[in-house]
Amino acid sequence: MRALIALLPGDGIGPEVTAQAARVLTAVGELYGHSFALREAPVGGIAIDQTGDPLPAETVALCQAADAVLLGAVGGPRWGPSSPVRPEQGLLGLRRALAVFANLRPAVPHPRVAAASPLKPAVLRGVDVLIVRELTGGIYFGEKRREADWAEDLCLYTEEEIARVVRVAARLAQSRRGRLTSVDKANVLETSRLWREVTTRVVREEFKGIELEHQLVDSCALRLVQQPAAFDVIVTENLFGDILTDLTAVLGGSIGMLPSASLGEEGGPGLYEPVHGSAPDIAGRGLANPYGAIGSVALLLRHSLHLEVEAAAVEAAIAAALESGALTSDVADRDDRACSTGEIGDAVVRALSLHKETR
Ligand code: IPM
Ligand code: MN
Repeated sequence: MRALIALLPGDGIGPEVTAQAARVLTAVGELYGHSFALREAPVGGIAIDQTGDPLPAETVALCQAADAVLLGAVGGPRWGPSSPVRPEQGLLGLRRALAVFANLRPAVPHPRVAAASPLKPAVLRGVDVLIVRELTGGIYFGEKRREADWAEDLCLYTEEEIARVVRVAARLAQSRRGRLTSVDKANVLETSRLWREVTTRVVREEFKGIELEHQLVDSCALRLVQQPAAFDVIVTENLFGDILTDLTAVLGGSIGMLPSASLGEEGGPGLYEPVHGSAPDIAGRGLANPYGAIGSVALLLRHSLHLEVEAAAVEAAIAAALESGALTSDVADRDDRACSTGEIGDAVVRALSLHKETR
């Protein structure tokens, strides 16, 4: 297969983790006989510095022409919340431009990093949760107004925006354990009451076998740390999904472990990025955990390139590297020698060729 991948390293630790992810993608191409062309473009703070625009038109054009987009992270103290143009606008603009409305954030803790979690091992046993976050609507994209002494963010959802992301989540639940939890704040918000209505109807009419439950976002947050193994697929709106997916970092041991995939209609390019941010405090020191970025490569192979064997091989290589003790300092046991970002890439690439040899 030939594929064009847009590589958007972004800011902070973004370039370090995407460099390792790109190595893994290139290694997959070599081992499995594919030709992946990786083309780089600026987004976020670095794009502001270079062009004044967090999302230059050339970057959008490259991403739209690509089969998939692999992104690192955006943001940093140099472009704070009060700057007129902010790196985050680049990421939000890109999600919107690619119309990637369904953001998949799986959390499957690996036993090797369980010790890094503040939760008890018994609570983590059997955890395999997939959060599907609506990504191009809601309060993130509603009209914003600001006067001297008041401010406003509008939260708006249409039936169709809700229905399409619920369909993605329900289809994924069908391929897993058949359970879907829809999360809202229907005791307070009108958009949540619509969310609940539409979700109930879509699942009843189109997904007969799915077991649907509704849960309020506050109690969902509590249950995610008390009984995370109780969940299969969770579907929720943009802001709730943002908050709940950071919470799942305690399941995976570190936010650095978590990958994500953002998908739109079939045929358009998907956007793949680790859940973690730009972590400016550790940037440039080889300390960043690249597993989330490398895991995003597995999701890219699966969802955009439909290369399931290769996707599973990357996931197996990640597991093997973790088992061999290739851990960055955020997840390393006290006794382990923490690895650098590049050493994790080495370990995964090595495990990938071993995996291929033994098939
Ligand atoms: C995320 C991030 C972004 C978001 C920021 C950087 C705009 O926190 O991907 O979760 O809020 O969606
Ligand atoms: Mn977030």
